[in-house]
Amino acid sequence: MDKKIITISILGVGARGGEAYGRYIHESKDRFKVVSLCDPNEVRLKKYGDAFEVEESQRFLDEEGFFAEKRSDVLLIATMDRLHVRQAVRALDLGYDLVLEKPISDDAEELKMLVEKAKANGRMVMVCHVLRYTTMVKKIKSLLDEGAIGRLISMDQTENVCYWHQAHSFVRGNWRNSVQTSPMIMQKCCHDLDLIQYFIGDRCKSVASMGSLAYFKCENKPEGAADRCINCKYKDECKYSAKRIYLDGWKKCGGGDTFPYTIITDVLPLTEEALITALKESVYGRCVYSCDNNVVDNQTVIMQFENGVTATLKMEGFTARGGRDFRFFGTEGELEIFEEADKMVLSRYMEAPVEWKISELVDELGGQGAGGHGGGDHRMFDTLYNIYFNEKFNASSSIEHSVESHYMALAAERSRIQGGKLVELSDYRK
Ligand SMILES: NC(=O)c1ccc[n+]([C@@H]2O[C@H](COP(=O)([O-])OP(=O)(O)OC[C@H]3O[C@@H](n4cnc5c(N)ncnc54)[C@H](O)[C@@H]3O)[C@@H](O)[C@H]2O)c1
Repeated sequence: MDKKIITISILGVGARGGEAYGRYIHESKDRFKVVSLCDPNEVRLKKYGDAFEVEESQRFLDEEGFFAEKRSDVLLIATMDRLHVRQAVRALDLGYDLVLEKPISDDAEELKMLVEKAKANGRMVMVCHVLRYTTMVKKIKSLLDEGAIGRLISMDQTENVCYWHQAHSFVRGNWRNSVQTSPMIMQKCCHDLDLIQYFIGDRCKSVASMGSLAYFKCENKPEGAADRCINCKYKDECKYSAKRIYLDGWKKCGGGDTFPYTIITDVLPLTEEALITALKESVYGRCVYSCDNNVVDNQTVIMQFENGVTATLKMEGFTARGGRDFRFFGTEGELEIFEEADKMVLSRYMEAPVEWKISELVDELGGQGAGGHGGGDHRMFDTLYNIYFNEKFNASSSIEHSVESHYMALAAERSRIQGGKLVELSDYRK
């Protein structure tokens, strides 16, 4: 490996591999070089191959060709959920260090096998639990660890999915069906579960959960509604109208190439015509009451940890805003974080509260990082670079930590299906 440049290949140049990470990696020319791409989508392969200046001979439509040899120091696996383990195993056998998208897998045996494989091959597997790399999470963790609220007794966390995001990703989009991807508590909340175990600083002991697909189903379809919003008589009044969310929303926000509009079409720069075509042809134009979705739209998880701390997580599709809320209850104070309101409040008992703006927090690298997930998307790669060249850094989101959050999600889903029955995490670690 060159002393200063880490070479990276990317498997899957979609929303994550191409946009969220790929562009940043390519722009960080003093630290990284994208040397190879693989994606069966010809349009994306060309788009990102050109954008990241990857040689023609190193662009692969076919996974077999890509895996014929090792092509870089690091491989970023940003394909869809069901491909992760199979591709990670091939990559580890070739000797790559991995940056691996979450969820890793919803199969406990596969998770265990992958941990063993990484260990046996002596390779690093950094899982994209990007929130661990945000200034917000680092600040919370350091306040808890330095005893700012005394001994932590319990905590509450809410994942405010937001009504349109629920419809976009979990009713119409990629993660609508657990048979094709994974249960929503795994897909959306393995981040949350990962953070909860990180903050509490111990392994989860047992879990109970309840939740359901309460609303996005055919019995709630309004009388006479069409299967595609663009043709529907309710297109200008329905809260979940794809025409209102994607077309009117894009116009209202000034017509840029931004999320979620870039997800529904590959045409860039975005145009009104491309969005209308997507509304007519893509999954994103469908009525939310006539999709092939089966994942929940609300779920609550109750957890007990081995150190006695208890926690609740609420994943809620029906919220006006996004972001997460956290409350930590300790023997000497309370810590509250409202991500969307940009606010963190430490209330030590009998003392005046101390408040921070999340957007003004700075980390050990001297800033916040940019990009999605509160800067975490980019900060994870900043950290990756430092791991290679500065021994003070390590992968906070290592695979050993990440599988624990996956076990928690599996236990929560099993409990939910069994009507809230208590599930022991030891069942998954055997
Ligand atoms: N870390 C996070 O916060 C976060 C957020 C969103 C999504 N994700 C995860 O990231 C992953 C990718 O999500 P996305 O939104 O980028 O999906 P996407 O559909 O936009 O991108 C996936 C890409 O993989 C390509 N692909 C399909 N088969 C392939 C193969 N055999 N080899 C190589 N490429 C292949 C597809 O053509 C597509 O371009 C998912 O597992 C998702 O759960 C993580």
